[in-house]
Amino acid sequence: MTSKVLDAFLSPQLATLREQGLYNEIDALEGPNGASIQIHGRELINLSSNNYLGFANDARLKEKAIEATKTFGVGAGAVRTINGTMSIHDELEKKIAAFKHTEAAIAFQSGFNCNMGAISAVMTKKDAIISDELNHASIIDGCRLSGAKIIRARHQDMEHLRELAKAATESGEYEKVMYICDGVFSMDGDVAKLPEIVEIAEEFGLITYVDDAHGSGVMGAGAGTVKHFGLSDKIDFQIGTLSKAIGVVGGYVAGSQKLIDWLKVRARPFLFSTSLTPSSAAACIEAFDIMENSPETIERLWENGRYLKHGLKELGFDIGHSETPITPCLIGDENLTQQFSRRLLEEGVYAKAIVFPTVPRGTGRVRNMPTAAHTREMLDEVLAVYAKVGKELGVI
Ligand SMILES: Cc1ncc(COP(=O)(O)O)c(C=O)c1O
Repeated sequence: MTSKVLDAFLSPQLATLREQGLYNEIDALEGPNGASIQIHGRELINLSSNNYLGFANDARLKEKAIEATKTFGVGAGAVRTINGTMSIHDELEKKIAAFKHTEAAIAFQSGFNCNMGAISAVMTKKDAIISDELNHASIIDGCRLSGAKIIRARHQDMEHLRELAKAATESGEYEKVMYICDGVFSMDGDVAKLPEIVEIAEEFGLITYVDDAHGSGVMGAGAGTVKHFGLSDKIDFQIGTLSKAIGVVGGYVAGSQKLIDWLKVRARPFLFSTSLTPSSAAACIEAFDIMENSPETIERLWENGRYLKHGLKELGFDIGHSETPITPCLIGDENLTQQFSRRLLEEGVYAKAIVFPTVPRGTGRVRNMPTAAHTREMLDEVLAVYAKVGKELGVI
């Protein structure tokens, strides 16, 4: 049932969203996520996943997940602090720390709740957080939850960051000041300017927090954006997800032993929510092993990204300033963006429209996420469809 009061809230809001083309209809996949997917019985080329390395349906990961289910069961049974930790979770955390070149790591059930837990475990209302204006929603929510003063920094504007860091630290109002940003910004594919960020952080004594959800498995031979810049010993918090390049589910913080010790007693999603399933942990371990031993998978991802970008640019599309395989195709108007994406779908390409509130109003885009699993033929087919739809809708 929907009470009168709730209906009076929901009905007009939903109607407005639909009128403005801002309501996101969610499609059901009738099989696994991969370079192609099946929706309503149709096979579509998939450019909408974060399954960068094609691990989400990889036979090797599935095998490990099945083995772990047989050994440990389907669920962890309780939160780790109450019922003990399964050895497979410890093994995963050791693997992550080694891969990230940090002393230790802690795994969470998702990247989203990792940010909710990690930020609020360290920052309080006596502190300030300088946050890039295009940070992911989970960072924004984690900052809000902490109660710290949130100071918005203009996107990737290092002069602005310097001014804000100086003002915040010299004001004497805050016990600690943190700078927080994505390692790779997922809507535009640009990379955080970590060398300059570290320099500013060192000058003003900032805590540094990099959420590398889209950089892990992609940048730095898979180890992420921090490793890419050779700054593993300069960033306090390295966040990652196990749900994107790793292909499974979960999130983590990699950092010093002291930080991880603290998060194990203060990060609330770790303390009050049941841990990853054993099968997830086992599949993640296998994904890290493959990344270490098969660098060609990551190279294929980059090659596919370069190929798609080059092709779209040649056709005359505005692909922004991505520095990673993430390939946005900027269209602007929300309705036109939705229409463009619908036409792609009719032509067999699944690339979703990303519109406000995920990105600022008037910057609607179709975001293309090539993966290591896409073939050259698939990408050529995508380019042919883009050419057709682009001309038809007057975008090129
Ligand atoms: C920067 C960033 N952090 C965190 C998350 C959340 O990750 P998860 O899907 O593992 O909860 C995302 C997902 O889109 C992200 O882009």
